[in-house]
Amino acid sequence: MIFRIAQISDTHLSPREPAFEANFVALAAHLRRSKPDLVINTGDLTVDGADHEADLVHARALHDAIGLPWKAIPGNHDVGENRELEDRQPFDEARRNRWLATIGPDFWSLDVPGWRLLAINSQLLGSGLAADAEQTAFIDDAVGGAAGRSILLMIHKPLCDVGLEDYPRNGRFVTLDPRRTLLRALGARGATTIACGHVHQFRDHVVAGVRHVWAPSSAFILPAWFQPTFGERAAGYVEHALNGDGTATATLIAPETMRLLDIADHPEVYGQLARKRV
Ligand SMILES: [Fe+2]
Ligand SMILES: [Fe+2]
Repeated sequence: MIFRIAQISDTHLSPREPAFEANFVALAAHLRRSKPDLVINTGDLTVDGADHEADLVHARALHDAIGLPWKAIPGNHDVGENRELEDRQPFDEARRNRWLATIGPDFWSLDVPGWRLLAINSQLLGSGLAADAEQTAFIDDAVGGAAGRSILLMIHKPLCDVGLEDYPRNGRFVTLDPRRTLLRALGARGATTIACGHVHQFRDHVVAGVRHVWAPSSAFILPAWFQPTFGERAAGYVEHALNGDGTATATLIAPETMRLLDIADHPEVYGQLARKRV
């Protein structure tokens, strides 16, 4: 028994800024042919769901139109940035509630043969909201009750670059204290694989014995002059083939029908890169 997950990410959809919608439509057509068992979007479904509910509603409709079972977790562009990094558009209760009402739960788990999927809200970590402690307890329980299953943790932001204690102070990774809280909740057993998005690059590497898989964006890449190169800039998604014996493969899929778009060519969406970091 193999359970196939299509991990899509960073779709950045909006009725106001449709620059990336054609790539999503091409991705959806590809997925309908490939027929994974489940599609999971690891966040930044929207251009700016944090301030525009219409972006969340639009993204919801486009995901429903794929015609396959799908689930999601939020990214910083959907529900706001971590308060310790930015106060322009902070993650808060109201933004979280819009996600819950429009898309669904922001943390959840699902058992498939040999595996437990554990999907969490990276923006909730360290937020101090009541749901922050609820999510940490949920992680603790989900790992404690996983018995012999492997664990696939899904989260919008990567934990780190090369070391679990590294912390360049920016929004690229889960910040250090929340990261430590998460690792404590995962316990000695930890996750088998951690799958994330957010950086808009594909990467597959091992940190402290755990496989970290970064999904590319279906929408756009950030140019090398603006963002360090960690992996591969591609337009596509990751297929996780989960085997019943607890092993898995993760493969970058870059359909020919998707175009590699550079955010530097679309200043109408987030402004000029030189003055505003995505
Ligand atoms: Fe993104
Ligand atoms: Fe993001």
